[in-house]
Amino acid sequence: LFANVSCTPQESEPEKDIIIGFSQSGIESSWRKRHTESILSALKSDGYQVMYRNGMMQQSQQIQDIRAFIAYKVDMIVFTPISHTGWDAVLKEAKQANIPVILVDRDITIDDTSLFTSHIGPNFKAEGNRAGIYASSCFTSEEKSEVNILEVSGNADSYGSILRHSGFDETIRNRSNITLTIKETLYGNYTRTMGEELMRNYIKEKNIKEIDIIYSHNDEMTLGILDALDAVDIKPGKDIKIITIDGQNDVIKELKKGRVNCVVECNPDAGPYLISAIERYFKYQEDGSNKEIPREIYMTETVFSDKGDLDAIPPRNY
Ligand code: AHR
Repeated sequence: LFANVSCTPQESEPEKDIIIGFSQSGIESSWRKRHTESILSALKSDGYQVMYRNGMMQQSQQIQDIRAFIAYKVDMIVFTPISHTGWDAVLKEAKQANIPVILVDRDITIDDTSLFTSHIGPNFKAEGNRAGIYASSCFTSEEKSEVNILEVSGNADSYGSILRHSGFDETIRNRSNITLTIKETLYGNYTRTMGEELMRNYIKEKNIKEIDIIYSHNDEMTLGILDALDAVDIKPGKDIKIITIDGQNDVIKELKKGRVNCVVECNPDAGPYLISAIERYFKYQEDGSNKEIPREIYMTETVFSDKGDLDAIPPRNY
């Protein structure tokens, strides 16, 4: 759907003399597709000229794409870092070329934090906390004193995975009277195929019967996990509680069927937040005030679970 394209705004929009280079990390999920759509449509309808590149889940490709933006002398670079380290050199090049950088979705770990202006994203730590709160409430101490959890994480080196793990882990430790333990963490790549493969292998090699809860870091992997559980006649949502993150339409349907217990929303609609940040950035440049836009901009998110009113879940657009 989204090839590597350069696009100009529709004719009805007043075109701005500002070019934004947007490097997306990949195409691994419906969530990602919506994230891309939200950003591209917001930029275009606000009149920005856009150079879009998709890194196809390769950091080396993203670095090459960002270098192409620098060579093209875009006015701003927006990018979703596939992994959290390894951006120092290319961001130094952007700084030397006086091109501001905004991170969307995932954050990075970098010594020189002046190499980017702002990060606009979901609050991954809070998502992990919310998943942990649900996990902690699944059983009473009369039902179980020990609860075993299988965690299916995204890429080990993505910022989201790190924080979704730590937010979850710190929350489950607070539960009194019950010990919740992450028996094992499996690492996938946020795709359905990988979720299914990891789960099939786990069922083959380990004792799935001792697992009470599966905490999956994204909906796409969850769909694969459900496929693998169906194949061996384990009833997801009943035999094993399923907690997942994102809020894709197809997983909300599974929640309504009772096959998923809790969906922690991850908001993909970054477009309006990005536009507001870009507008302020260029306004402060123009008026000479040199004010800074916030370093950290979090998007609103919520939780849907079988403990809430499932009919009240707003329609999904991803
Ligand atoms: O970084 C956000 C995560 O990446 C979303 O949860 C997931 O679906 C995507 O692949």
